[in-house]
Amino acid sequence: MPATPQPRRLWRDVTLFDGLDTLPQPMAVIVAGDRIERVLPMDALDPADTAACEAMGRGGVMTPGLVDCHTHLVFGGSRADEFESRLEGVSYEAIARRGGGILSTVRATRAASEDELFEIARPRLDALLADGVTTVEIKSGYGLTVADELKMLRVARRLGDAFPVRVVTSLLGAHALPPEYRDDADGYIDLVCREMIPAAAEQGLADAVDVFCEKIAFSVAQCERVFEAAKVHGLPIKAHAEQLSNLGGAAMAARFGALSADHIEYLDESGVAAMREAGSTAVLLPGAFHTLRETQLPPVAALREAGVPMALATDANPGSSPLFMPTLMLNLACTLFHLTPREALAGMTAHGARALGLHDRSLGRIVEGAPADLCLWNVDSPAELAYAVQPGRLRQRIFQGDTTHG
Ligand code: NIG
Ligand code: FE
Repeated sequence: MPATPQPRRLWRDVTLFDGLDTLPQPMAVIVAGDRIERVLPMDALDPADTAACEAMGRGGVMTPGLVDCHTHLVFGGSRADEFESRLEGVSYEAIARRGGGILSTVRATRAASEDELFEIARPRLDALLADGVTTVEIKSGYGLTVADELKMLRVARRLGDAFPVRVVTSLLGAHALPPEYRDDADGYIDLVCREMIPAAAEQGLADAVDVFCEKIAFSVAQCERVFEAAKVHGLPIKAHAEQLSNLGGAAMAARFGALSADHIEYLDESGVAAMREAGSTAVLLPGAFHTLRETQLPPVAALREAGVPMALATDANPGSSPLFMPTLMLNLACTLFHLTPREALAGMTAHGARALGLHDRSLGRIVEGAPADLCLWNVDSPAELAYAVQPGRLRQRIFQGDTTHG
């Protein structure tokens, strides 16, 4: 039986940011079904192509759909009270040490049912989609029991089924030490390695395993054990590392072939070299830096010099980054971390996909054969997306070839 012809759609006269660079001349993009079929300069567009395609739009800036490669979108409760305490001078670390912080969100998340968590995550995901996201990573890490971590991951999977977005999940069982294990961190790591990771892997709920390697969380040796268990189950790994101090977590993660090390404000030269060797991606999270009013800048110049790809994400979460606006991160990455607008956009497209291990399929790029995940913006140049913080500029959001916004 002949295959049903796939609908072909044409966008013309766009200024194209292809995930790495802006092309010098006006471009046309032809999408067939859920793939990009052709990307060509306007003057190479044939009248036959125009006639054969549905006209989808003209002008504007086209970018790959945004990839938010680090979020904690599923959680219960609010930490507005801690925000106020921090403004009065109490540190993020001090709040964590007295049982607030992540553990406060753990209490609220455990108390919520799967359906409740799904409902409260909806508007957060809506906000990301309205700002151009077509791929989002969602972590667990506020359950800290086998059942509650799996509950969070199921909510993330359900969000991916219910919304026009690609959801990638990470099991972050080693996020904080739950109160039941207060004096037995190694015992808790046993639980993560022997029960959580196997269960999440067996049920297909985790696409990767993440850890929080920090003085207020888990040591390098404990995170190493988590990575060993992840490897046994064939799961890629990533790490929250060097956020508040330099423990060497990023270099250790690199030895395990980590997809990414995230935050990395305190990363040193040897950490940069280890990441380069391993081909790990540096995930920069200026929302957390801004919210916690940190002063230690990530080593952007060294990463750039070493050719370590820099991704950019919201880190959307109730404590360190209650910011659900990816294009704000483009701005903060430039103003706070000195990225160029081009680097910031690449960080939320091509390099964001790399941090999730999805670059092999050309996700985050506008090239022939890539998934047709695209954004068309009402701006004159790609740099404007980083320059102004202005909701409402997204004209069309295209997910797997279908226009889902605009
Ligand atoms: O990415 N650094 C650790 N984890 C999260 C914060 C979680 C929280 O404060 O709830 C982060 O910043
Ligand atoms: Fe995080």
